[in-house]
Amino acid sequence: MEKFEILGARELNGKIKINGAKNALLPIMTSTLLAPGNYSLNNVPDLKDTRTMAELLRRIGASVSFKNNQLLINTVNVSKPVAPYDLVKTMRASFYVLGPLLGRLGHAEVSLPGGCAWGPRPVDIHIEALKKLGVNISLEGGNIVAKGNPIGNNIKFKFPSVGATGNLMMASVLGKGQTILKNVALEPDIISLGDFLIKMGADIKGLGTSELVINGKDRLNPVDEFDIIPDRIEAGTFLIAGAMCGGSIEIENVNPDHISIVIDKLIESGVRVKTVKNSIIVNGNKKIKPVNVTTAPYPGFPTDLQAQWIAYMTIANGLSTVTDEIYYDRFTHVPELNRLGANITMNKNTATIIGVSNLKGAPVMSTDIRASASLILASLASIGKSKISRIYHIDRGYEKIENRLKKVGADITRS
Ligand code: EPU
Repeated sequence: MEKFEILGARELNGKIKINGAKNALLPIMTSTLLAPGNYSLNNVPDLKDTRTMAELLRRIGASVSFKNNQLLINTVNVSKPVAPYDLVKTMRASFYVLGPLLGRLGHAEVSLPGGCAWGPRPVDIHIEALKKLGVNISLEGGNIVAKGNPIGNNIKFKFPSVGATGNLMMASVLGKGQTILKNVALEPDIISLGDFLIKMGADIKGLGTSELVINGKDRLNPVDEFDIIPDRIEAGTFLIAGAMCGGSIEIENVNPDHISIVIDKLIESGVRVKTVKNSIIVNGNKKIKPVNVTTAPYPGFPTDLQAQWIAYMTIANGLSTVTDEIYYDRFTHVPELNRLGANITMNKNTATIIGVSNLKGAPVMSTDIRASASLILASLASIGKSKISRIYHIDRGYEKIENRLKKVGADITRS
């Protein structure tokens, strides 16, 4: 199994280009199932998850090719509306085929995602909402078997779930009549999915607000060119790396509006942050002030940057707390960060971090995408050598992260 070796405590200086957003790309890929034809997606990150989703679309009958960050998809043949366990268990976003397959074929079989490394992650909001659209749902052999063409209805989500909002949008755009979705997610990934669906000819009103009104269409059209939006989580991760390691890092090809809360928190922590159009420059500061964060749905502080923020706070000058209100158990990085000399204690979903003057390199283990990112950040800031094992997790969400960090001065090798 591959690992990273990092010799830490080196200043980082230079530019890093941000890639397309994984969490915008994945539902957009499945939405191509809605209308037969040829699609071309640009600025597609070369990730393990991109390839897993491509494989899932192929198994359903699509043809997919991926080269130079461009994805070509043909969905004329959609013959097997099944997302099998072997793919769903490696990537929960496989669940995103449910909505579009119901819209196109009125039939989908998707393995029920099990728990994940940090907790249960249920799909009840998706299921309850689809039932309200008249879809018949049963569980057979661990698979959700969904049958019926969606019929418009009024749905209020009990929580603004990203996945349920995406799935229900995709199920409704070819549905019969009008669907009103209330308390929807506002994440830029979902707005981008909405933009894509509108480009396909969908009638969606209220995009960017918490209520969507969708009038079902008889058919939609393929989209021949679409650019995936920049990944705000990748941008946040590299900004925190710059803040932790001193020096000056410029993040290019980013939409600063998508991470304004992260920029505000970084400034509060005492680093200088400058935004110029689609770039953000962060200048590290030796004295980091402790800053508390609590994760929340967009535009709140993203749960996908919680682990990285904890890593940052381990070297702050004082005590801070980080609370995750989205995933209560997403803290598998904490004991690993403590192996690097951090002083973090947990109480329910709150981490209390007492800053230390130095982290010290050690062997540690990744457990998921964002936990891996936090261990890389902490290792970059540590004195001495760290070895991070099980790094296949990081390849799910960050394209060739070691090459990009090397370019700005990090001593990191994959072996
Ligand atoms: N939830 C339910 N029932 C549901 C769905 C969600 O109780 O049916 C709960 C979850 O357990 C969680 C909360 O609602 O407590 C938020 O879940 P949400 O549905 O919004 O998350 P998701 O769609 O499963 C996406 C991202 C995650 C990101 C979350 C939150 C994708 C492919 N995944 O997941 O990204 O953490 O939104 O922003 O878009 C990652 O990239 O590392 C990652 C995990």
